[in-house]
Parts: sequence; C-alpha cells; structure tokens
Amino acid sequence: MNDTIYDALRESHELQRSLLRKLLRSKPGTQERIALFREVRIELEAHEAAEERYLYAPILMDDAGLSSSRHALHEHHEIDELVEDVQKLDPTGDAWLEKAKELSKEVHHHLREEESRFFQVSGKILGDAQKKTLAGKYRRDYARMHRKLAAE
Ligand SMILES: [Fe+2]
Ligand SMILES: [Fe+2]
Repeated sequence: MNDTIYDALRESHELQRSLLRKLLRSKPGTQERIALFREVRIELEAHEAAEERYLYAPILMDDAGLSSSRHALHEHHEIDELVEDVQKLDPTGDAWLEKAKELSKEVHHHLREEESRFFQVSGKILGDAQKKTLAGKYRRDYARMHRKLAAE
C-alpha cells in the first residue's frame, strides 16, 4: 500500500472543511447544529492528538522540524480554546455564530499552513518507509481517539 501519513492527514482535513461548512450553514437552535458541533469537536480533537503524536513529535526531534512543530502545536492549542469558547455560548445566538466563524477561519488557516508548509518541511525530514509506517499509526490512534471521545 502506498498510503503515506500525508494522505491520512489530508483525509481528516477534508472532513474538517466539510463539517465546518455544514456547521456554519446550520440553523440556530436545531439538533442538527448541536450534533454537527459535537462532530467538529470530536474530529478536531482526535485529529490533533494523532497528528501531534505521529507527525509533529517525530519531526520535533530534528532541528529542522523544531519551529514548524512548535508553531503547529501552538495553533492546535488556539483551536482548542476556540472550541471551548463556542461550547460555552448559546447555539441560538448571534455570538455563537460569530465564534463558530472565528473557529472555522482559524482551522482553515491552520490546514492551509500545514498543507503548504509543514508537510513540505516534514517531508524532507521523514524517510519514505517512515511516511508509510506513520500513516498506519496515525490512522489507528485517530480511530481510537474518535471511539474514546464519542463514548464520553
Ligand atoms: Fe494540525
Ligand atoms: Fe492537520
């Protein structure tokens, strides 16, 4: 199988883009909005954890990957804080939509930066065999995190 860590990560990124699009289009106060937000929250958390473990931790060990991994982990933290902010707001209000838009903007910025910069930086650090091994490890941890978070 030619699946690399980048194929696996891009699949999650596409899912996030699609979920965020649906979330921002959802009607205030509907079950759909509540369910979509839960999906977004779980997807972001599962992806961030598995990506930190199987993309950023390995490249953090290399001097050339230090700044990119730090930057990405910082953005993950900012995204987590925005998720918490949205969660505290009333899903029928204007403030909710404003905060959800901010979250979507931050996630889109982060995904673009990963796809256009951090994947290239890490691509020079990781070997071909490692890129394949990490894909399997990422997928297993991502699925496990999804199951764990969905059960909470
Ligand atoms: Fe990320
Ligand atoms: Fe990512």
